[in-house]
Amino acid sequence: MADGPVNIFEYEELAKERINKPDYDYIAGGATDEITIRRTRAVLDSIMLRPNMMVDISQRDLSTTVLGQPINLPLMLDPAGHHSMASDEAEIATVRAAGAMGTVMVLSSHASRTLEDVAAEASGPIWFQQYLFKDRELTLEMANRAEEAGYSALCLTADAKVPPKRERNIRNNYVGGVSPNYSKIDMGTHTSTFGADAPAGPRDIRDPAATWEDLDWLASNIRLPVVVKGIMRGDDGRRCAEYGAKGVIVSNHGGRYLDTTFASIEVLPEVVDQVEGRIEVYLDGGMRRGTDILKALALGARAVLMGRPLFWGLAVDGEAGLRAVITLLRDELNGAMGMCGRPTINSIDRNIIGTVSPLLGLFPQSADFR
Ligand SMILES: Cc1cc2nc3c(=O)[nH]c(=O)nc-3n(C[C@H](O)[C@H](O)[C@H](O)COP(=O)(O)O)c2cc1C
Repeated sequence: MADGPVNIFEYEELAKERINKPDYDYIAGGATDEITIRRTRAVLDSIMLRPNMMVDISQRDLSTTVLGQPINLPLMLDPAGHHSMASDEAEIATVRAAGAMGTVMVLSSHASRTLEDVAAEASGPIWFQQYLFKDRELTLEMANRAEEAGYSALCLTADAKVPPKRERNIRNNYVGGVSPNYSKIDMGTHTSTFGADAPAGPRDIRDPAATWEDLDWLASNIRLPVVVKGIMRGDDGRRCAEYGAKGVIVSNHGGRYLDTTFASIEVLPEVVDQVEGRIEVYLDGGMRRGTDILKALALGARAVLMGRPLFWGLAVDGEAGLRAVITLLRDELNGAMGMCGRPTINSIDRNIIGTVSPLLGLFPQSADFR
């Protein structure tokens, strides 16, 4: 018997024993019926690979670039709040693991550590994730803080304007913490559901009125390239390119906001088509196997990101646990690329993908078939 987990699902099982239940539910859960979460795995599992044999795959190379920055493998770390739920070292462990493995960490503005403290531990490229705030000066201030600290891109999350209904959190009376990134910001007050003025939280300062013009404004007022996260349609992908973004993350926020959307990988091809190569397209959602990453790349993603598995790695063994999780996915991807006859990232193409059994073509109109 191997003594450690041998796949991401086993990491989750182990992590579940180590993280307190409300936090585990917050991480693992999603909006309302969690239909999108289940659909994501079902869709990924239903995509079949069509391998080519007798290709020279002796020299495999998983390296690529994102926004011109070299990374060792096409898997980055998604922005996710409060890594302290899984490890005392929190985002410090995460950024060290990302640096050691040669990939990008996208730091959430809801991190348990300040963006400056995390940047100080970085040994590779780091991106910073934030929102459009009602106060535009504050929006620029945070982006400029990130640039000054050494972040090389700004990830603008577009799909989190409305508070989601997460039923596990409601049942657990779950209250999350406030990130120190917001500690110096005067957030004012808001009128609570009970009518009284209550201290506002980070969510209250996000701007529900933000539109594409605001993306244009942001992209022209900061030096960092902007990557828009949370796009689920081809037309919106095209707008990202038109309004100044340099990249787009096809994502449904891991099923944590709007439920009953398609799995992100289902809409990836339409975004890739409408973006027409003008900006880079990435994907997140349900990446748990090397073959998932291969399928996303085959459907046109330049790279993928993972959210929940980073918590599972951190909970099992801090920085080393997260390194192990990334290594596991890297090795699975390496093997799958070899077995499909695709030795490099550039050689991965749509041709290795199928969703419908080739047998169906044999019996197109056959009465016997019904
Ligand atoms: C606990 C948790 C916190 C998250 N916090 C953020 C966040 O602060 N900003 C953001 O843009 N996305 C956030 N996300 C969404 C992730 O970036 C990502 O879109 C999603 O987790 C991808 O799906 P996966 O978990 O199946 O890999 C969070 C996800 C989780 C699980």
